[in-house]
Amino acid sequence: MARAHHELGTIRELSKSDQALHRDHLLRLDAEGRRDRFNGVADDNFIAAYSQRCFAGRTRVFAYVDAGGAVRGTAELHPPTAGEPADVAFSVENEFRRRGIASRLFEAVIAAARYSRFRQLRITSTATNLAMRALARKFGASFTFEAGEATGILPVHPTEALARLAPLRVAAAPIAAE
Ligand SMILES: CC(C)(COP(=O)(O)OP(=O)(O)OC[C@H]1O[C@@H](n2cnc3c(N)ncnc32)[C@H](O)[C@@H]1OP(=O)(O)O)[C@@H](O)C(=O)NCCC(=O)NCCS
Repeated sequence: MARAHHELGTIRELSKSDQALHRDHLLRLDAEGRRDRFNGVADDNFIAAYSQRCFAGRTRVFAYVDAGGAVRGTAELHPPTAGEPADVAFSVENEFRRRGIASRLFEAVIAAARYSRFRQLRITSTATNLAMRALARKFGASFTFEAGEATGILPVHPTEALARLAPLRVAAAPIAAE
């Protein structure tokens, strides 16, 4: 008889004390995941320094934390700079993909952007990253392409109700059949 085992994780915002969890999650991305996430080659030193920077300023980091306390997916909201929209970036570890984790993280990021009155979000990746584009289009992004890079712009509508930020629990465990 088939039996499904579900393990519950939580979506929450990370704080500075969680930085190592964020770094370790990014380090677990394989070469393809790193390329898609960082739009180029990212070695371990780059990732460690990048993760530190995420917690050094006004960037907000939302994460899917599994039942064991490990971060398995993240969404970063980098605030707008002069003339540039806020940037968002997502990563979910291979074995946790296609379970709606990035979608839940997208909702958290949009709610945070709306709260901060950001008007637009920008998401960039390689032009071949179909998963990212499909994900962002679900949330209303339109894409342009240039020099092997895809850039999506997503309007943040101020009038929509604020999405719940936490606690938000998603089922995210392998379905084991017996
Ligand atoms: C892109 C990424 C974050 C998606 O994470 P995820 O948790 O698997 O996404 P979800 O399960 O919420 O899927 C949301 C939608 O994205 C699309 N999608 C996700 N993976 C896809 C794939 N491999 N192929 C096509 N569409 C895909 C689908 O439309 C999906 O909706 P559906 O399941 O209802 O069909 C993940 O694949 C990833 O971490 N990739 C490497 C890093 C990266 O590309 N980051 C984006 C650039 S910053």
